[in-house]
Formats: sequence, C-alpha cells, structure tokens
Amino acid sequence: MMFDREYFDAGLYRVGTACEKWDGCRARSGADVLPMWVADMDFPSPPAVQEALLRRAAHPTWGYTEVTDEDLDALRGFWERRHNVSFTREEITLLPCVVTGLKLAILSLTKPGDGVIIQSPVYGPFRMSVEVTGRKLADAPLRRGKDGHYTMDLEAVEARCREGAKLMMLCSPHNPVSRVWSAEELQALLEILDRWGVPLVSDEIHADFVYAPNRFVSMLNLAEKNVLSLVAASKTFNVAGLQTAFCVCRDEEIRRRYRETVEASGVVSGNIFGVAAARAAFEHGDDWLDGLLAYLDGNRALLAEEVARELPKAVLSPMEGTYLGWIDLRAYGFTCAELQARTERAGVVFTGGTFFGAETSEGFLRINIACPSRNIPEAIRRLKKALEA
Ligand SMILES: Cc1ncc(COP(=O)(O)O)c(C=O)c1O
Repeated sequence: MMFDREYFDAGLYRVGTACEKWDGCRARSGADVLPMWVADMDFPSPPAVQEALLRRAAHPTWGYTEVTDEDLDALRGFWERRHNVSFTREEITLLPCVVTGLKLAILSLTKPGDGVIIQSPVYGPFRMSVEVTGRKLADAPLRRGKDGHYTMDLEAVEARCREGAKLMMLCSPHNPVSRVWSAEELQALLEILDRWGVPLVSDEIHADFVYAPNRFVSMLNLAEKNVLSLVAASKTFNVAGLQTAFCVCRDEEIRRRYRETVEASGVVSGNIFGVAAARAAFEHGDDWLDGLLAYLDGNRALLAEEVARELPKAVLSPMEGTYLGWIDLRAYGFTCAELQARTERAGVVFTGGTFFGAETSEGFLRINIACPSRNIPEAIRRLKKALEA
C-alpha cells in the first residue's frame, strides 16, 4: 500500500464512533462544525495496526494477558531506529497513558505543597496534574520572540529551583508552541536541574512529529540520572483510545520510587488491544509514518501560507514539530472566550489559548493540522469570517 498524498487526502469519516473530536464537538456546536481542536488525527491508523487488532479480536476470549519481551522489544527497536535511543526492557514501565505518567511522577517524587516547574504556555494537563495532586505550580514561562518563536527562560527555571521546586515537567517537542528543543537547550536545562538536584519528567509523546532540519533529542540520550521519559504509540499512530503508554527511566532509584507509586495508586496497565496495537505500529508502522510526516509537512506549509494571506495581523509560531499550530490573534483584540464563541458561530472549533496558560495565552488559538489538506484553507476561511463578524 502506498502512503502517499492520495491516501492521506482521503481522510476518514469519524462521525458516530464516539469520537471526542467530531462527535463531542458536533453535540456542542452543530453538525456542520469543522473540528480543528483535540490532538488526534483524521487519518486511519496503519494497516498493520488494524490487522493486529482484528486478529486479536477474532480470538473469542480476552483474559489476563502477558506483556511479552517481544512487545517491549518492539518499543525498543522503534526508538533505536528512529531516535537513536537505546534502553533495556527493565527500564520500561507500562502505563495507561502519558498524563497518568505525569501524575505518577509528581506523586512519587514530590510531597503535597512542593513546587513543580512547568513552562507555560503548555499542554493544560501539566498544570492540572500539579493542581489535582495538591502540589504548587512553579511556572517558568517560555520567552516569546516577536516572530512567535519561543525559547526557554532558564533564569526563571533556576529561580524556581532556588525557591525550592522539587520536580520539573518538560514538554518535548512542545505542545502548543511547536518547538523542537535543541541538544544545547536541553543540555543547558539539565545543567541547572542537576545543580539543584531537581528531577525531570520529559513528556516525549510528540517525538515523532519533527520537520527537517530540526532533530528530536530525547532526554534519555542526555542524562542517565534523575530523568524519566514518557513515550507512546498513541499520538504517532492515532491509537490514543487504546490507553497504553510507557515510562522509560534509567535511574534505578527513581524507577523504584516510581513503581512503588504505580503499585500504591492501583494503576494497572496491560490492555490487550493497546499492547497489540503498539507492537504492530512499532514493528510495521515506519512506511506509514514516513508518508504521514511528508503529508503533515505539506499541511504545515499550507497553514503558514493561508495564515499569511488571510490573516495578516496573526502570527503563527514557526512549526518545528508536532501537528499543532499556535496562532497569536491578539492584534484582533478578542479574548479566548470571544474567539471561541465567534469561531463556533462561524462553524469551526480550535483549542483556546487559555487552556495552555491563562496568563500567557489570552487571545491565542491552537489549530490541529492532522487532517486532509483541504480542511486547512476552509478552517482559516471560517476563522477569518469569525474575526470579521
Ligand atoms: C504533550 C502531551 N502529553 C500528553 C498527551 C495525552 O497523552 P495521553 O492520552 O497518553 O494521556 C497529549 C495529548 O494531546 C499531549 O499533547
């Protein structure tokens, strides 16, 4: 099968599958709405994943199942091949999802009231995980350049360490600002954390969505101690509904504490279908993924063209990675609540900026471009209409 433009252009009709992105949105905003929000893709998962799931479903019992060495080796092989990162089976802990993995890192490495460093704007559940576990937000907001390119504020990170923060959560590559952190930036961050003895949990769920000449660098390749990386097939191969993710940690002591917390929290993983899908994707998904990345690269260029032409006052952050575009619409003078009401009336839904940080992101929207290309000009046309209404 060819994973070419024609394949991805065909997209997928997802209505009626209890799909949050389409069905949830239509229930709230009407049948004609174009959903460009939650981060999953309007493409079928690789055929090998479909086949593996059908094969497993065809055997008519789904009792307790082992996660085999081959399942873990599929993850290891994929990371070795695609990211030049190697780790052992022992270093892997199975999880139901990455956000659970973040919360478990907080619970295992900090105490109630401790500061946890995040870098706003960032994927909302970072902040929510700190709040729901009774820890304290220690925000070191990213610095925004005029062209919408963000960098880390390392002085702020160090200040939060000095104030006593006990953990840092990194989003790498970064949702929503589309940065792929360079080895130098990550190294500089690690030096600070190392100086203060602050452990790091690195959410690397977007690792596979990187556009040349940028290169993803895993924290696993930069540090042995005090680092946990959270990875999954879910974002890359569109299998988030199967609830399977992995924590990879080389540091024995941190891993021991993490697993104790997994155990004590009653978090149980090993969904038969999730594991089967991840293995099939990791073993046989490369061609599909290469085709997808070429297609998304085209969507990324198309989005930049559309924004520049239709919304001259908007600033789209340069998209180095992820399939999520971050658009600064502050020049149009609306709050996120106003933007969302207007866009909904114009028949399109984005994620409002404040989901990623109330202080840093009023007047921003995030757009998901993992969809057939034709939806992008249509979404921008509707956005323009919303701004002019
Ligand atoms: C940075 C980041 N982490 C985690 C998640 C969610 O992962 P999971 O469904 O495995 O909890 C997302 C989904 O958009 C994300 O963007």
